[in-house]
Amino acid sequence: MLTLLHEDPFTHRAFYKPRKYAGDAVMLDYIYGQEDYWPLPECTALGKQIFDYTTLAPASAGVRARRGYIADVLDLAAFETTRPHVLSIASGHFREAEMSAAIRRRRFGRVVALDADPQSLNEVETRYGRYGVETIAEPLMSLLKGTVDAGRFDLIYSLGLFDYLNEKIGRRLVTKAFEMLRPGGRLIVANFLPGIHDIGYMEAIMDWKLIYRTRQEMIGMTLDIPEEEIQSVALESEENNNIIFMTIRRKNEIK
Ligand SMILES: C[S@@+](CC[C@H](N)C(=O)[O-])C[C@H]1O[C@@H](n2cnc3c(N)ncnc32)[C@H](O)[C@@H]1O
Repeated sequence: MLTLLHEDPFTHRAFYKPRKYAGDAVMLDYIYGQEDYWPLPECTALGKQIFDYTTLAPASAGVRARRGYIADVLDLAAFETTRPHVLSIASGHFREAEMSAAIRRRRFGRVVALDADPQSLNEVETRYGRYGVETIAEPLMSLLKGTVDAGRFDLIYSLGLFDYLNEKIGRRLVTKAFEMLRPGGRLIVANFLPGIHDIGYMEAIMDWKLIYRTRQEMIGMTLDIPEEEIQSVALESEENNNIIFMTIRRKNEIK
């Protein structure tokens, strides 16, 4: 049974983890490819049917909605602020660049894609270097330990990373990323919500285990940020209610 289900390239890649963990940037491309009409990966006829099921199921739909959400945020950010500086932590292939007019029209002062996987960042450089996107091939630990100084940003976001981070590291990264904001800047962190329909298939068949967070657990990750530096904390979920976004805004100035 498992062998048959693994004829689906998406299930197969999650299970065998060629980059040591499920949900790498190549897997995410399988998900985005359904929306962008990219060629299907090679597989059997059965594999293709299962692929259509897995890459159209709620978790995948949530990932597509997540990319759309951040592309809208990017376009609005470039409209509201002149040439803002943006950092994506764990950018993967940075496919939001396919959807954001502001990225393509070079409306940003800086766009930085940070990821631990240099192979993923090669793809970012090849496809989006022409739009001025810079890459930093470092794990998040380099930010936490301060061995890398990426700069200061008007918008920092992280999609598809916190689902793998325990509470301690999640809190540390939220606190550190908040410190890296310019006055008035925003940090946006996405996480899967509990109760998604495909958890059973993902865990049992794909061996893809994520950390799901409630609204309260999202707020919990902000508690090490000094209260007087926070302008606001807001939570909203994407259109399918599978993924939650937390936006923490830094005050313009601290009195
Ligand atoms: C699920 S993908 C999300 C990619 C992209 N943000 C997106 O939404 O399409 C997770 C990404 O996190 C990166 N990653 C995992 N652990 C990391 C770490 N410790 N430091 C930096 N990046 C990491 C992986 O290389 C991968 O590109």
